[in-house]
Amino acid sequence: MMKKTILSALVAVGIAGSAYAAEGESVVEDYSFSFEGPFGTYDQAQLQRGLQVYTEVCAACHGLEFVAYRTLGDDGGPKLSEDQVKAYAKQFEVYDPEIDDTRPAKPSDYFGTSSYDGAPDLSLMAKARAGFHGPYGLGINQIVKGMGGAEYIASILAGYTGEEKEEAGTLFYSNHTFPGGWISMPPPLEDGMVEFRDGSDNDVESMAQDVAAFLMWAAEPKMTARKKTGFLVFVYMVFLGALLYLSNKKLWAPHKRKD
Ligand code: HEC
Repeated sequence: MMKKTILSALVAVGIAGSAYAAEGESVVEDYSFSFEGPFGTYDQAQLQRGLQVYTEVCAACHGLEFVAYRTLGDDGGPKLSEDQVKAYAKQFEVYDPEIDDTRPAKPSDYFGTSSYDGAPDLSLMAKARAGFHGPYGLGINQIVKGMGGAEYIASILAGYTGEEKEEAGTLFYSNHTFPGGWISMPPPLEDGMVEFRDGSDNDVESMAQDVAAFLMWAAEPKMTARKKTGFLVFVYMVFLGALLYLSNKKLWAPHKRKD
């Protein structure tokens, strides 16, 4: 009975999986990121570049309303210095109900909301679009290679084919990653658009990966800490398991017949 249930569950997952794969020709590139794998961590320099791409390009349309400026200084994140965080926040105006006016933002304020019609907030986008390397399969790939939200975002940004069409007064751009193939976001990146201080590559694909890594951090800033705890729990379980096995053997040894 149990076997049958497991078998039918596996078959169901398998069928769902192939249907998912067949439905859209949506292509997600398997970019590799530093935070993949059970011990992966964010690359501080990449997060700083990603922040720069977000600030100079994406912020014109997309908000990050659940992210506070102060977190830019956190360990494991872009880790700007305290002065850098202050200076960064100061560039933006926020509405303060206490003075009923706008004032320059402080580190304790949050990034703004989206300002462009139809542009979704990006705070949790990398998690909302996770699922690459799945949903079919047993999830092993997700543990080893990460959840895929960052790959999806980088692929979208680098996935424009150059074609456009107009429908009901809206322009749509052909994109080989976006489900359905047509997206209303104009191609945001162009080669060389952002100048990085450290002279890092600034072709579309490099910038796309940098900003995707930054958005993964924004959606899951504690990923590294979570992985570390997970690993310690794992080691503890193995140790506890061994201890239980040995004490079980020892306890029962006198009662077992030796024949
Ligand atoms: C001119 C405004 C504009 C700019 C600049 C822009 N976007 Fe968008 N973006 C949009 C709009 C509009 C949508 C909604 C598209 C749709 O649903 O067809 C969108 C959608 C998205 C999505 C969601 C795709 C999905 O699966 O629903 C992501 C991710 C995204 N943008 C990331 C970015 C990033 C990263 C940047 C900066 C490199 C950026 N965008 C720059 C307007 C913009």
